[in-house]
Parts: sequence; structure tokens; C-alpha cells
Amino acid sequence: MTHFMLKEIHEQPDVIRELLDRSISIAFEKVDHINILACGTSLHAGLIGQFLFEQVAKIPTQVRSSSESRFAPLLETSNTLTISITQSGETADTIAALKTVQSKQIAITNGIDSTITKLVDQTIYTNAGEEKSVAATKTFTAQLVILYQLAFELAQKQLTELRLIPQQIEAILRNNTIAEIAKTLENTRDLIVIGSGINTAIALEGALKLKEATYTHAEGYAAGEFLHGPIALLDSQIPTIAIGNVGKTLDRIRANQTPVIEIPTPAIPELFSPFLTVIPLQLLAYELAILRKIDVDRPRNITKSLTT
Ligand code: M6R
Repeated sequence: MTHFMLKEIHEQPDVIRELLDRSISIAFEKVDHINILACGTSLHAGLIGQFLFEQVAKIPTQVRSSSESRFAPLLETSNTLTISITQSGETADTIAALKTVQSKQIAITNGIDSTITKLVDQTIYTNAGEEKSVAATKTFTAQLVILYQLAFELAQKQLTELRLIPQQIEAILRNNTIAEIAKTLENTRDLIVIGSGINTAIALEGALKLKEATYTHAEGYAAGEFLHGPIALLDSQIPTIAIGNVGKTLDRIRANQTPVIEIPTPAIPELFSPFLTVIPLQLLAYELAILRKIDVDRPRNITKSLTT
């Protein structure tokens, strides 16, 4: 494949398969509160983690951007578990945030022997292989696998539903018509992405992929929240990407003559849908970047890892 981003998107089924063949367990008992620290795409994985820890394991969970935690450190109880999520393991903001934490700490990282692994009580590797494209793709879905595994372990529930995910991703990649959709967006400057529930984080992640890979001003919103002001932005020049069933918000958006691109609800329980809803958004960011002749693996102004 011509670009690392596309190659890494296509590696996701195998990365997930291998992670599912590995069992993980955490070395801490009596966790009554979870804090998550991360940046960028890893922060979006953290939002999905929050959803799972609260809704599946019933453990109150806070998520904070590592850079913001300097101004508002997360509160800790005596049984708090802090999880830092970082593809590289070298992100300066996440390392600085972690150094102020008193509670037990886990790092979820792809960076073998990276700085963060030296600072935490336990490291869980995403084992995704090196990710060369600046835009994180396979490391994001690998982070998700681990967060699902942790949440189900804390809930003392079996996790079998992810077994079919790799082949379902392969089907999406095989029947990929995203290049056609990308053509309709070639001259689009502004774009909205909406989702709800667990897919709100995927709306944020899709918008981030589109921003960094295609330089489109893309904003992600929770579908219900979008009605409380941002909907005033819409006109026929601002397409909306709707992830899954976003209910009445979609009717309100259509009433504005706004072009709508729907990412269908996958035929699996919604709780597990992020693995499938994120793929078309990753592909769209890739295809649109190629159409715009952007150096997709090395977009302007950013580096793979922000170490200062
Ligand atoms: O290595 P990290 O996961 O800590 O990096 C965090 C962000 O800098 C990173 O996710 C960034 O947002 C990516 N370029 C997103 O594709």
C-alpha cells in the first residue's frame, strides 16, 4: 500500500485478533474510582473507557486531557486507579500529569520501554506494531480492546462479543465506497460529525482525523447537544456526518437543507459499535487527504509524538 495510514487502517483486524488471544489482568483490587489521562486520539479512547467503566463496571470515572490536568488535577480516593493512555508513551503532557498522581497507575501504550512504562505500577502494551503515520488508527482500536477487557474484568463479566469484530472490520474494508463519498467533500471547508452515547467519542475522533489529515474544519458533537446552539452553523455548504441512530437531531439537520452522510448503525450491540463506526471515518480522512494531495502520513504542523 502506498501510504502508512492506509496500511495501518488495514492492519486493524489482525491487531485486534492478536490482542483478543492474549489475556490481561490488573494487579489491583478494590478499585472504587478511575481517573484517565490522555491527549488527542488517546483521549478519545479514554472517553470510551469512561463510558465502559461507568456503564459496564459501574465505577465512577473521570477523564481529563493531560494538559488540562495541570490546572485541575483529578480528584483521587484511596482506591483510585489512574490509567494513562498514550500511543507513544512519550507525550510530555501525559508524563507530566502522571508525575503528580498519588494513586496506583496503569499505562496503556504502544511504546515498548517508553518513558511512561518506567513511571507506572503496571504497563499494558497495545502490541499494534510500529505506527508510522502521524494519524493514529490501529493504536486507537488497540487501546479500545484493552479498555473493553479492563471494564469487563472489573465488572467480572465475560467478554465474547469482540471476537467477531475483526471480520466485521474486514467486511467494511472490502466493501469500501468511501472514495466516492470523499469526492463529494473535495471542496468542503467545514464539516460537522455527530454521534451519541458511546459514539460521541467517535464523532470527536472522526473530526480530529479529518482536521489533521485533510485540514478540514471538522467539529464533533454529541447529537443531542448539537441542537443547543451549534445547529445555527448549518447551511447547504456544511455537510454533517451522522454516526448511527442520532434520532430527532437528524430530522432537524435535514430540515436545514444540509447534506447528510450517514454512517450506518452496525448490526451488533451498540456498546461494541465504536470499532466499526470509526473505520469509515479513518478511511474518509485518508481518501480526502489523497484527493487534496496532502502528505497524509506527515501532515503539516504536527509530529507523531509531542515530547516537549
Ligand atoms: O502518543 P500519544 O497517544 O500520547 O499522542 C497523543 C496525541 O498527540 C495523538 O493522539 C494525536 O492526537 C494524533 N496525531 C492523532 O491522530
